[in-house]
Amino acid sequence: MGKGIARSGGKKASAQGRTELSRTSHWILSRRGPYFLDPIFRLGDRSLSRIGHYIEQGHKVADIGCGWGHFSFALAGAVGPEGKVYSVDLAPKVIAKIQKRAQRGHYLNIEARQSSAADLGFIPDRSVDIIFANGLLCSMAVDRSAAVAEIKRILKPTGHAYLSLGATPPWGYVDEAEWGQILEGFLVVDGGTFKEKWAIVALKLV
Ligand SMILES: C[S@@+](CC[C@H](N)C(=O)[O-])C[C@H]1O[C@@H](n2cnc3c(N)ncnc32)[C@H](O)[C@@H]1O
Repeated sequence: MGKGIARSGGKKASAQGRTELSRTSHWILSRRGPYFLDPIFRLGDRSLSRIGHYIEQGHKVADIGCGWGHFSFALAGAVGPEGKVYSVDLAPKVIAKIQKRAQRGHYLNIEARQSSAADLGFIPDRSVDIIFANGLLCSMAVDRSAAVAEIKRILKPTGHAYLSLGATPPWGYVDEAEWGQILEGFLVVDGGTFKEKWAIVALKLV
């Protein structure tokens, strides 16, 4: 276990996590890439401006599959000191980096956790206003339906989730049929086509 890294599960969970990590389609950047190059890859990315409209000061946000945390820090600024950002990733290295940066920059509202998106047990049910899952599902070799179930579990009935596919097959794991199935389980508020590769969704309330 990396020193100072908050993580879920025991030894068995860590071994599973390592196997899963080796199969993520984004593993080179998330495990080895120098983090300072990350903002270059994010140039022109419109994810935040799409979801920004729904974010308010004091909101609780979960940045799931946060990578080096480029968006976590922007989200932490947007929700302010009364808000909170959970930065979650399977890769211990990126979580350790975020924890260091958060400490240095006095971002007391960031809680960085090494965990699979398929098991977010440390986040209470229906407690999160905004979920930001930019390029997450397409990077997950396994357990995508469990991750979607966790997104539904932690999202508030009034909340919104931003889901996007950074890559589609053969580079990413989610094809058009699966993307359709995922979105069918939500109320699609914006975006949603496979061509767009992003959607803002809310819970379907019965
Ligand atoms: C394409 S990157 C996106 C990074 C970040 N969201 C961004 O937009 O800059 C995908 C991230 O998802 C993470 N990831 C893959 N599988 C995961 C899982 N099962 N649980 C949590 N994170 C996962 C990878 O480690 C990687 O950092």
